[in-house]
Amino acid sequence: MQVITIAMQKGGVGKSTLARSLAVAAARDGLSVLIVDMDAQQSVSQWAERREADMPVVVFSTENELPKKLDQAKDAADLVIIDTPPARSTEAPAAVEIADLVLIPTTPDVEPLEQMPRTLRLCRGFGRPVYAVINMANPTGPAEVSYTREVIESMGAKAAPVVLHRRKAHRDASASGQSVQEVDPGSKAAAEVSALWDWVRAELQGSK
Ligand SMILES: Nc1ncnc2c1ncn2[C@@H]1O[C@H](COP(=O)(O)OP(=O)(O)O)[C@@H](O)[C@H]1O
Ligand SMILES: [Mg+2]
Repeated sequence: MQVITIAMQKGGVGKSTLARSLAVAAARDGLSVLIVDMDAQQSVSQWAERREADMPVVVFSTENELPKKLDQAKDAADLVIIDTPPARSTEAPAAVEIADLVLIPTTPDVEPLEQMPRTLRLCRGFGRPVYAVINMANPTGPAEVSYTREVIESMGAKAAPVVLHRRKAHRDASASGQSVQEVDPGSKAAAEVSALWDWVRAELQGSK
Protein backbone atom coordinates (compact mmCIF):
# COMPACT_ATOMS: atom_id res chain seq x y z
CA MET A 1 0.00 0.00 0.00
CA GLN A 2 1.29 3.44 -0.91
CA VAL A 3 0.11 6.83 0.28
CA ILE A 4 -0.24 10.10 -1.64
CA THR A 5 -0.96 13.20 0.43
CA ILE A 6 -2.46 16.31 -1.18
CA ALA A 7 -1.58 19.41 0.83
CA MET A 8 -1.59 23.20 0.42
CA GLN A 9 -2.52 25.87 2.94
CA LYS A 10 -4.45 27.95 0.43
CA GLY A 11 -8.06 26.88 -0.12
CA GLY A 12 -9.65 26.60 -3.54
CA VAL A 13 -6.54 25.48 -5.43
CA GLY A 14 -8.01 22.08 -6.31
CA LYS A 15 -6.82 19.76 -3.54
CA SER A 16 -10.08 17.84 -3.25
CA THR A 17 -10.61 17.78 -7.01
CA LEU A 18 -7.11 16.39 -7.55
CA ALA A 19 -7.63 13.75 -4.84
CA ARG A 20 -10.84 12.60 -6.56
CA SER A 21 -9.42 12.69 -10.10
CA LEU A 22 -6.32 10.66 -9.21
CA ALA A 23 -8.37 8.23 -7.12
CA VAL A 24 -10.74 7.55 -10.01
CA ALA A 25 -7.83 7.23 -12.46
CA ALA A 26 -6.10 4.73 -10.17
CA ALA A 27 -9.31 2.77 -9.64
CA ARG A 28 -9.88 2.60 -13.41
CA ASP A 29 -6.35 1.22 -13.63
CA GLY A 30 -7.46 -1.68 -11.45
CA LEU A 31 -6.13 -0.49 -8.09
CA SER A 32 -8.11 -0.68 -4.90
CA VAL A 33 -8.19 2.96 -3.78
CA LEU A 34 -9.07 4.60 -0.47
CA ILE A 35 -9.46 8.37 -0.10
CA VAL A 36 -8.98 9.60 3.46
CA ASP A 37 -10.85 12.89 3.83
CA MET A 38 -9.22 14.91 6.62
CA ASP A 39 -11.03 18.17 5.88
CA ALA A 40 -13.85 18.97 8.32
CA GLN A 41 -15.71 20.50 5.36
CA GLN A 42 -15.85 16.93 3.99
CA SER A 43 -16.16 17.88 0.35
CA VAL A 44 -14.80 14.51 -0.79
CA SER A 45 -17.11 12.62 1.57
CA GLN A 46 -20.07 14.56 0.17
CA TRP A 47 -18.89 13.81 -3.37
CA ALA A 48 -18.82 10.11 -2.45
CA GLU A 49 -22.43 10.34 -1.29
CA ARG A 50 -23.46 11.85 -4.62
CA ARG A 51 -21.40 9.19 -6.36
CA GLU A 52 -23.05 6.03 -5.04
CA ALA A 53 -20.23 3.76 -6.29
CA ASP A 54 -17.96 1.28 -4.52
CA MET A 55 -14.67 2.74 -5.74
CA PRO A 56 -12.88 4.74 -4.54
CA VAL A 57 -13.78 4.04 -0.92
CA VAL A 58 -13.92 7.31 1.07
CA VAL A 59 -13.50 7.58 4.84
CA PHE A 60 -13.25 10.63 7.05
CA SER A 61 -10.43 10.77 9.60
CA THR A 62 -8.95 13.07 12.20
CA GLU A 63 -5.18 13.01 12.71
CA ASN A 64 -5.61 10.93 15.86
CA GLU A 65 -7.55 8.26 13.99
CA LEU A 66 -5.24 8.26 10.95
CA PRO A 67 -2.79 5.50 12.01
CA LYS A 68 -5.70 3.18 12.86
CA LYS A 69 -7.55 3.95 9.60
CA LEU A 70 -4.40 3.24 7.58
CA ASP A 71 -3.72 0.05 9.50
CA GLN A 72 -7.27 -1.13 8.78
CA ALA A 73 -6.79 -0.35 5.08
CA LYS A 74 -3.37 -1.91 4.61
CA ASP A 75 -4.56 -5.31 3.38
CA ALA A 76 -7.45 -4.03 1.27
CA ALA A 77 -6.08 -0.87 -0.36
CA ASP A 78 -3.30 -0.62 -2.94
CA LEU A 79 -3.33 3.15 -2.83
CA VAL A 80 -4.44 5.70 -0.22
CA ILE A 81 -4.95 9.33 -1.21
CA ILE A 82 -5.25 11.77 1.68
CA ASP A 83 -7.06 15.08 1.17
CA THR A 84 -6.12 17.68 3.78
CA PRO A 85 -7.79 20.91 4.93
CA PRO A 86 -6.59 24.40 4.05
CA ALA A 87 -5.08 26.85 6.56
CA ARG A 88 -2.65 25.90 9.28
CA SER A 89 -3.84 22.53 10.39
CA THR A 90 -2.68 19.63 12.50
CA GLU A 91 -4.04 17.25 9.84
CA ALA A 92 -1.56 18.20 7.11
CA PRO A 93 1.60 17.38 9.11
CA ALA A 94 0.16 14.00 10.16
CA ALA A 95 -0.69 13.20 6.54
CA VAL A 96 2.63 14.44 5.13
CA GLU A 97 4.64 12.43 7.65
CA ILE A 98 3.35 9.07 6.39
CA ALA A 99 3.22 9.91 2.65
CA ASP A 100 5.21 8.16 -0.08
CA LEU A 101 4.53 11.19 -2.29
CA VAL A 102 3.19 14.66 -1.50
CA LEU A 103 1.46 16.74 -4.17
CA ILE A 104 0.94 20.48 -3.68
CA PRO A 105 -1.65 21.82 -6.08
CA THR A 106 -1.35 25.48 -6.96
CA THR A 107 -3.07 27.81 -9.35
CA PRO A 108 -0.80 30.19 -11.29
CA ASP A 109 -1.59 32.96 -8.79
CA VAL A 110 0.57 34.83 -6.33
CA GLU A 111 -1.49 33.90 -3.23
CA PRO A 112 -1.00 30.11 -3.33
CA LEU A 113 2.58 30.50 -4.57
CA GLU A 114 3.31 32.66 -1.54
CA GLN A 115 1.90 29.92 0.70
CA MET A 116 3.86 27.14 -0.95
CA PRO A 117 7.17 27.46 0.98
CA ARG A 118 5.35 26.57 4.19
CA THR A 119 4.06 23.27 2.80
CA LEU A 120 7.44 22.61 1.18
CA ARG A 121 9.16 23.08 4.55
CA LEU A 122 6.77 20.61 6.11
CA CYS A 123 7.59 18.00 3.44
CA ARG A 124 11.33 18.60 3.70
CA GLY A 125 11.13 18.38 7.50
CA PHE A 126 9.75 14.87 7.15
CA GLY A 127 12.01 14.09 4.17
CA ARG A 128 9.06 13.27 1.93
CA PRO A 129 9.23 13.46 -1.89
CA VAL A 130 7.16 16.43 -3.06
CA TYR A 131 5.98 17.99 -6.30
CA ALA A 132 3.82 21.00 -7.04
CA VAL A 133 0.97 20.41 -9.48
CA ILE A 134 -0.02 23.43 -11.53
CA ASN A 135 -3.83 23.48 -11.69
CA MET A 136 -6.46 25.71 -13.28
CA ALA A 137 -3.97 27.17 -15.74
CA ASN A 138 -5.43 29.29 -18.50
CA PRO A 139 -5.79 26.98 -21.55
CA THR A 140 -4.79 29.83 -23.87
CA GLY A 141 -1.93 31.27 -21.79
CA PRO A 142 1.20 29.08 -21.88
CA ALA A 143 3.40 31.94 -20.59
CA GLU A 144 1.59 31.73 -17.27
CA VAL A 145 2.61 28.08 -16.87
CA SER A 146 6.28 28.70 -17.61
CA TYR A 147 6.32 31.64 -15.20
CA THR A 148 4.66 29.53 -12.46
CA ARG A 149 7.17 26.74 -13.07
CA GLU A 150 10.02 29.23 -12.68
CA VAL A 151 8.63 30.53 -9.39
CA ILE A 152 8.31 26.97 -8.08
CA GLU A 153 11.87 26.15 -9.16
CA SER A 154 13.12 29.33 -7.48
CA MET A 155 11.86 27.78 -4.21
CA GLY A 156 14.11 24.79 -4.89
CA ALA A 157 11.04 22.67 -5.67
CA LYS A 158 9.83 20.79 -8.72
CA ALA A 159 6.53 20.92 -10.56
CA ALA A 160 4.95 17.81 -12.08
CA PRO A 161 5.51 17.76 -15.85
CA VAL A 162 1.76 17.50 -16.50
CA VAL A 163 -0.32 20.68 -16.02
CA LEU A 164 -4.08 20.70 -15.41
CA HIS A 165 -5.84 23.57 -17.15
CA ARG A 166 -9.03 25.31 -16.10
CA ARG A 167 -11.77 23.20 -17.66
CA LYS A 168 -15.48 23.11 -16.95
CA ALA A 169 -15.61 19.30 -16.93
CA HIS A 170 -14.06 19.30 -13.42
CA ARG A 171 -17.02 21.24 -12.02
CA ASP A 172 -19.58 19.16 -13.92
CA ALA A 173 -17.96 16.00 -12.63
CA SER A 174 -18.02 17.19 -9.04
CA ALA A 175 -21.74 17.97 -9.27
CA SER A 176 -22.56 14.42 -10.30
CA GLY A 177 -20.17 12.66 -7.91
CA GLN A 178 -17.86 11.69 -10.73
CA SER A 179 -14.50 12.57 -12.17
CA VAL A 180 -13.69 14.08 -15.56
CA GLN A 181 -12.67 10.68 -16.94
CA GLU A 182 -16.23 9.50 -16.26
CA VAL A 183 -18.33 12.51 -17.35
CA ASP A 184 -16.37 13.20 -20.52
CA PRO A 185 -13.74 10.55 -21.31
CA GLY A 186 -12.77 12.19 -24.61
CA SER A 187 -12.20 15.63 -23.07
CA LYS A 188 -8.92 17.48 -22.71
CA ALA A 189 -9.54 17.51 -18.95
CA ALA A 190 -9.70 13.70 -18.93
CA ALA A 191 -6.55 13.42 -21.07
CA GLU A 192 -4.67 15.70 -18.66
CA VAL A 193 -5.75 13.71 -15.59
CA SER A 194 -4.83 10.48 -17.31
CA ALA A 195 -1.36 11.82 -18.21
CA LEU A 196 -0.89 13.09 -14.66
CA TRP A 197 -1.87 9.70 -13.22
CA ASP A 198 0.61 7.92 -15.54
CA TRP A 199 3.35 10.18 -14.21
CA VAL A 200 2.26 9.75 -10.56
CA ARG A 201 2.13 5.97 -10.96
CA ALA A 202 5.70 5.95 -12.30
CA GLU A 203 6.86 8.16 -9.40
CA LEU A 204 5.28 5.77 -6.90
CA GLN A 205 6.92 2.78 -8.56
CA GLY A 206 10.26 4.54 -8.35
CA SER A 207 9.80 5.15 -4.62
CA LYS A 208 8.98 1.48 -3.77
N1 LIG B 1 -8.71 22.20 -13.32
C1 LIG B 1 -9.85 22.77 -12.92
N2 LIG B 1 -10.64 23.43 -13.81
C2 LIG B 1 -11.79 24.04 -13.41
N3 LIG B 1 -12.26 24.04 -12.16
C3 LIG B 1 -11.52 23.41 -11.22
C4 LIG B 1 -10.30 22.73 -11.54
N4 LIG B 1 -9.79 22.20 -10.39
C5 LIG B 1 -10.66 22.53 -9.40
N5 LIG B 1 -11.70 23.24 -9.90
C6 LIG B 1 -12.84 23.83 -9.14
O1 LIG B 1 -12.31 24.77 -8.22
C7 LIG B 1 -13.05 24.76 -7.00
C8 LIG B 1 -12.10 24.51 -5.82
O2 LIG B 1 -11.57 23.19 -5.95
P1 LIG B 1 -11.33 22.25 -4.68
O3 LIG B 1 -10.82 20.97 -5.21
O4 LIG B 1 -12.55 22.20 -3.82
O5 LIG B 1 -10.17 23.05 -3.95
P2 LIG B 1 -9.56 22.86 -2.45
O6 LIG B 1 -9.84 21.46 -2.04
O7 LIG B 1 -8.10 23.14 -2.60
O8 LIG B 1 -10.23 23.89 -1.59
C9 LIG B 1 -14.12 23.71 -7.17
O9 LIG B 1 -15.31 24.32 -7.55
C10 LIG B 1 -13.59 22.81 -8.31
O10 LIG B 1 -14.63 22.22 -9.05
MG1 LIG C 1 -10.79 20.68 -0.35
